[in-house]
Amino acid sequence: MVVISLGGSVICGDKIDMEYIKKFREFMDFCEEKIYLVVGGGKTARDYISAGKTLNIGQYTLDKIGIIITRVNAYLFITPKSYPKVSESIEESVIAGKIYKNVVMGGTEPGHTTDGVSLLLAEKLGEKKVINITSVGGIYDKDPRKYKDAKMLTKMNYDNAKRILIERKMDAGLNLPIDLLSLKIAERSRIKIYIVGRDFETLKKVLKNESHKGSVIGNSNS
Ligand code: UTP
Repeated sequence: MVVISLGGSVICGDKIDMEYIKKFREFMDFCEEKIYLVVGGGKTARDYISAGKTLNIGQYTLDKIGIIITRVNAYLFITPKSYPKVSESIEESVIAGKIYKNVVMGGTEPGHTTDGVSLLLAEKLGEKKVINITSVGGIYDKDPRKYKDAKMLTKMNYDNAKRILIERKMDAGLNLPIDLLSLKIAERSRIKIYIVGRDFETLKKVLKNESHKGSVIGNSNS
């Protein structure tokens, strides 16, 4: 079994990347592992949330809007082999996974992101690995969009990841593609987070525990 968090920005920038979604669906059904997929909201969620902000809708309700958009995105990943609805809770996913080859979900409750959902789901399932698919493909020492010599940091422990996250928050240049709550859940249950790009070769290598492109956050630097 594997838990995958698919960042919304991977599937919807200015428009929905149907080519990628079709390939991902095929991958899900042909992959031997049982897949628990958590899908993010991407630009669509950000657009709705910023629209809501201009109306002074409170943060809780903005989160609710975000959750609905993640679930809409998640519906695009339900295949004939999947639990036929988007799961709305960790428990529902655990139960559905006992019957179906794949389980797809978006957000659950206000106050966190779909990355947090993927870590909570892994924790509940007793899984020690979460694959986080992002558009940046890893954690860099500086913003790769600005600096040509930016280097990918391939391995780091939870404390280093937290430190980088806090430093980057102050210097709004480049966000770490994972949030603090997710790191805390990963740390307390010793779950490794594999931050990778959108290519399927890398994904397959991570599943086979082979060396691959991307960054790993885990217990030690070794
Ligand atoms: P995302 O998981 O896509 O948020 O959920 P994100 O990480 O901020 O987006 P990217 O990856 O950078 O594009 C979208 C929004 O939905 C709400 C939050 O407001 C979140 O920002 N949400 C999502 C929740 O409140 N709870 C959840 O469980 C999931």
